[in-house]
Amino acid sequence: MPTPQRLESLNRGKFDYQEVLRDVARSMVRLKRPDRLLKLITRFIDRQFGLTHTSLLVFDTKRNRYVFVNSKGARRFPVGLIKMDVNHPLIQWFSDSRKKQSMPKDFLFLSDVKKMLSRAEFRMASDSRGDQLTGIQKAMKNLNAELIIPGYFKDTLVGVLILGKRVNGRCFTKQEVIFFQTLAHDCSMAVKTAEYNQNLVEQNRELERRLEEIEGLRRKEQRTYYEIMRSLAEEVHAKEPCIFGHVSEVEKLGLMTAREMGIDLSGRTKDILSAALILHDVGKIGIPDNILFKPGQLTMEEWNIMKSHVEKGARILEPLTDFKRVREIIMAHHERFDGTGYPRGLKGEEIPIEARIICVVDSFHAIVSTRCYRDGRSIESAVQEIRNCSGTQFDAVVVDAFLRALRKGLHKKGAVPDVLGDYAGR
Ligand SMILES: [Fe+2]
Repeated sequence: MPTPQRLESLNRGKFDYQEVLRDVARSMVRLKRPDRLLKLITRFIDRQFGLTHTSLLVFDTKRNRYVFVNSKGARRFPVGLIKMDVNHPLIQWFSDSRKKQSMPKDFLFLSDVKKMLSRAEFRMASDSRGDQLTGIQKAMKNLNAELIIPGYFKDTLVGVLILGKRVNGRCFTKQEVIFFQTLAHDCSMAVKTAEYNQNLVEQNRELERRLEEIEGLRRKEQRTYYEIMRSLAEEVHAKEPCIFGHVSEVEKLGLMTAREMGIDLSGRTKDILSAALILHDVGKIGIPDNILFKPGQLTMEEWNIMKSHVEKGARILEPLTDFKRVREIIMAHHERFDGTGYPRGLKGEEIPIEARIICVVDSFHAIVSTRCYRDGRSIESAVQEIRNCSGTQFDAVVVDAFLRALRKGLHKKGAVPDVLGDYAGR
């Protein structure tokens, strides 16, 4: 970056105003933090012009007051200690001068203040500007200020460049004053640009924080809804006192089968399969009890109502936006591998693999479960029926995996029926 070196080299000799200003403008664009540029400019003025002090007062938006950010020279001020409120006469003077065209131009010599005070209009007690100028004169004397240059961004006073006397006693030229004005303007631009960037960063952080908060609430809501759905799914079977634990048994068998098939059940895959195994019959909550628990054969009309539990379940789960896949699985859990199932007559691998697993384990558990109107059948009988339907109602690959998993489970209990002997070690 040319500016620091450029300013340093200029400190050692004569300088070209235009060149310095071009350098400052370039630095302004590059510097994310303006404090470095402000320090460079203060030091440059101090060394180049040989002043008793060069100081910069910049508006602190958080504290709502102007504070000294830098001061150089033999009579410099301690940075940060001297502050000016927004209603300080000096600040008011320059804030007003932008708004009122009749106010004096954008700089103030101590000699000008004295001249204005000597005029009759400012001596009149009725004119508050007289008091203001008296306050300014006092402040300038306290600050050993010879010349004050304001810096604006649009109509806002961003800061004030306060210059002491020249050590060699020379006065400032008109060209030098214009140069200081341009520097003050550039400093203001740099401060405001950095402030704007910082605000953008903070706004982005705040936005990200709020989005995370909303996402957290959404997840919590989804979890609550899921828990309600789980209770509903259990409620379906709770009405039938003989078939206790169907939901959790089906979940267990389904997960065992999936593992046996080599499906990676880490993370979300397991969540989806578990949810589908638990919630697949939640739509039965909308089926009248006289149909749901009818001991005899269902009429065609009753059967159509019973079949509608698939769509009802998918509809109930619509608010669970995180579980779109679960709805698709539930919609397909009565499809048959040979394409003769419902509601859409999907065939083979058109049926989601999770639905094919549910179809097998749910059927098996239904066969072995005791109902109010009949006793549960033996494991042997259920296995035989599942095997008989392998390749037609059920996916043969799923059936094989299920029977292997079942055998392993029963082996641990030491009760493997002969019918599962074929599945040892397969
Ligand atoms: Fe079902």
